Amino acid sequence: MDWKSGNDTILEFNELIKAKRANPYQGNLKVGVDLGTANIVVAVVDENNRPVAGATQGAHVVRDGIVVDYLGAVNIVRTLKSEVEKIIGVDLTYANAATAIPPGILEGNTKIISNVVDSADFTVTNVVDEPTAAATVLGIQNGAVVDVGGGTTGISILKNGEVIFTADEATGGTHMSLVIAGAYHISFEEAEEMKKHEDQRKIFPVIKPVVEKMASIVHRFIQGYDVDTIYVVGGACVFDKFEQVFEKEIGIKTVKPVEPLLVTPLGIAFNCQR
Ligand SMILES: Nc1ncnc2c1ncn2[C@@H]1O[C@H](COP(=O)(O)OP(=O)(O)OP(=O)(O)O)[C@@H](O)[C@H]1O
Ligand SMILES: [Mg+2]
Repeated sequence: MDWKSGNDTILEFNELIKAKRANPYQGNLKVGVDLGTANIVVAVVDENNRPVAGATQGAHVVRDGIVVDYLGAVNIVRTLKSEVEKIIGVDLTYANAATAIPPGILEGNTKIISNVVDSADFTVTNVVDEPTAAATVLGIQNGAVVDVGGGTTGISILKNGEVIFTADEATGGTHMSLVIAGAYHISFEEAEEMKKHEDQRKIFPVIKPVVEKMASIVHRFIQGYDVDTIYVVGGACVFDKFEQVFEKEIGIKTVKPVEPLLVTPLGIAFNCQR
């Protein structure tokens, strides 16, 4: 299967979120909750992994897979849960849900992540690691998936459908904003806005060293593995030239699906078990 076939599903999911609309569905619903450093997303798909509805909110209650504001996190998941319930017209209380962690975090932190989702009245049936969730949407069996989020960059290497290596490093969009804030002598919040809304041609040269550093981290991790394609996802890789920098630094073909922000959240829902 070509990884690009996942693009239609991602686009459909994006449209549902934007329009606050639900798709008709078949069978049981599957829920995915992504507790990200920058964004929390609730994704709902049906048994055939067709997107049904979704909702998202910017949040700073989880940092790099560690919950820093437990009640805040629970409240946001509850709010997003009731939003999707309204959109679909169904009560999702105690519905099965999957959630995700950056690869390699401690077991205690994993438990807290899943407790947040349970406390928001879901029933957690699976905890996957983020790049692995993304790989499910891309339908790939081989290659490296790199999830560049707000605070963390997660790497999973797959071989014949099996995850053979995972790693996680504390770098992401937050670090890009810190560099922009320094370069323009503005606050972090102003830098976040500038990064998202300013012309990429102006911003990218400023953050390019951060992307090069990310690439060198990924390069180090995948050395010794037989990787012929790198798939980048996550909100921090939206820049048009992101893949180009990776290819130049690492020397391996690098590709990016549409709406990279939504790939991991959608994949978490795909991994919800009955
Ligand atoms: N249009 C954009 N241009 C540049 N950066 C963007 C854009 N939209 C989002 N981002 C950045 O993407 C990051 C958020 O991505 P994502 O939602 O994948 O992270 P997360 O899952 O919340 O974090 P993590 O996986 O690290 O816990 C933020 O740093 C945000 O500033
Ligand atoms: Mg993430």
